[in-house]
Amino acid sequence: MPEHSGILEEMAEGKAVFWKNGGKPPAREVLGRLPIGMADVLEAEARLNRFAPFIRSVFPETGEGLIESPLVFVPAAKAALEKAYGKPIPGSLWVKADSELPVAGSIKARGGIHEVLKVAERIALEAGLVQEGSDYSCLALPKAREVFSRKEIAVGSTGNLGMSIGIMASALGFRATVTMSRDAKAWKKALLRARGVTVVEVESDYSEAVAEGRRKCEADPDCHFVDDERSIDLFMGYAVAALRLKRQLEEAGVTVDESHPLSVTLPCGVGGAPGGITFGLKSVFGDAVKCWFVEPVQACCMTLALVRGTPEVSVKDLGLHGLTEADGLAVGVPSALVWGLVKDLVDGAFTLEDDELFRLLAILWDSERRKAEPSAASALMGPIVTGGTPQTNHVAWLTGGLFLPEGIFEQMLSRGRELLGK
Ligand SMILES: Cc1ncc(COP(=O)(O)O)c(C=O)c1O
Repeated sequence: MPEHSGILEEMAEGKAVFWKNGGKPPAREVLGRLPIGMADVLEAEARLNRFAPFIRSVFPETGEGLIESPLVFVPAAKAALEKAYGKPIPGSLWVKADSELPVAGSIKARGGIHEVLKVAERIALEAGLVQEGSDYSCLALPKAREVFSRKEIAVGSTGNLGMSIGIMASALGFRATVTMSRDAKAWKKALLRARGVTVVEVESDYSEAVAEGRRKCEADPDCHFVDDERSIDLFMGYAVAALRLKRQLEEAGVTVDESHPLSVTLPCGVGGAPGGITFGLKSVFGDAVKCWFVEPVQACCMTLALVRGTPEVSVKDLGLHGLTEADGLAVGVPSALVWGLVKDLVDGAFTLEDDELFRLLAILWDSERRKAEPSAASALMGPIVTGGTPQTNHVAWLTGGLFLPEGIFEQMLSRGRELLGK
């Protein structure tokens, strides 16, 4: 893969590229200049903790009421990747399995749920349903549901953010409306409708679905629009994952420092989830953590923004059609907010062709029996592309897959195995 020279031409031809953020300042310096900080992440974490009793009562599958996924050591996947790509992976490989995240089944859960809970908390405090220090499990009672039912929460999404917002908003009793882009999969729409969520389908791309949802909500004072392109509350919810990963690494006995780098690959759509996690991880580990974004060749909007040094870009500028099987990453224009926050933090970005998504999905299943959706499987390319040392701990962030219907997964698996010549 080329690094810098002619990278935009390669991208315009739909080729996979790898870009390194050379010469960026130290993370501590960059973080010191940002208008947000660790205190904001801790506040979001505290909010999620306050709601744990409510979540436990409504979603018993979460155990203690914390929506979290396992960190798993995957030596068999590492060996299978090395074999398939004919390249050794220096260091160890782990997956962060948001593909098994309870309740919403994807990386978008922490941010989406955090924002819904923040809205619910404000309303509950104003209505006197809770006070500081209350046990929030009372918010599952009919009295609270009646209060929430007077309000609407809306969002525009390619699918997974819609699932996290729709599922949590309807669990609280809010009216929930999700405007879904042409990329959203039929099964995701059906799942939401089955939960009482209003799904509006638009035949346009993700950015237009967000604009449409925003427009509809704007006129209504009882409607809160979760803005995937502009929300700091989403961003902070995602960032909480960094604190939880830190604890999981400690429990697993993994050291993270300059000579034992952590190298994390994050699938990127509009940028919020990978951006929030990068911000959180850099705040926790400084430059001992490397963060890489991965995007489909046709939806390489954040890579394009990083290479060009401006968020005012669209994949259309490169003549790309923007269609990809990675529905969660099917975004043509990046979040300007997120670009501004992470452009000097992220270590680099790379792109891959759609066929690769299916190869990786099949490699993961056949080696580890773990299910990931195509968007999520892209993360497994990180250790192949980004390199490292024998002391590197690679983390491929598997961003979604829990609700993938069996029949659809089987088809994807067959496609991946065929591509691998199996
Ligand atoms: C499975 C999956 N992975 C990654 C992402 C990327 O998140 P973001 O759009 O915030 O960059 C998404 C977004 O919906 C997703 O659904």
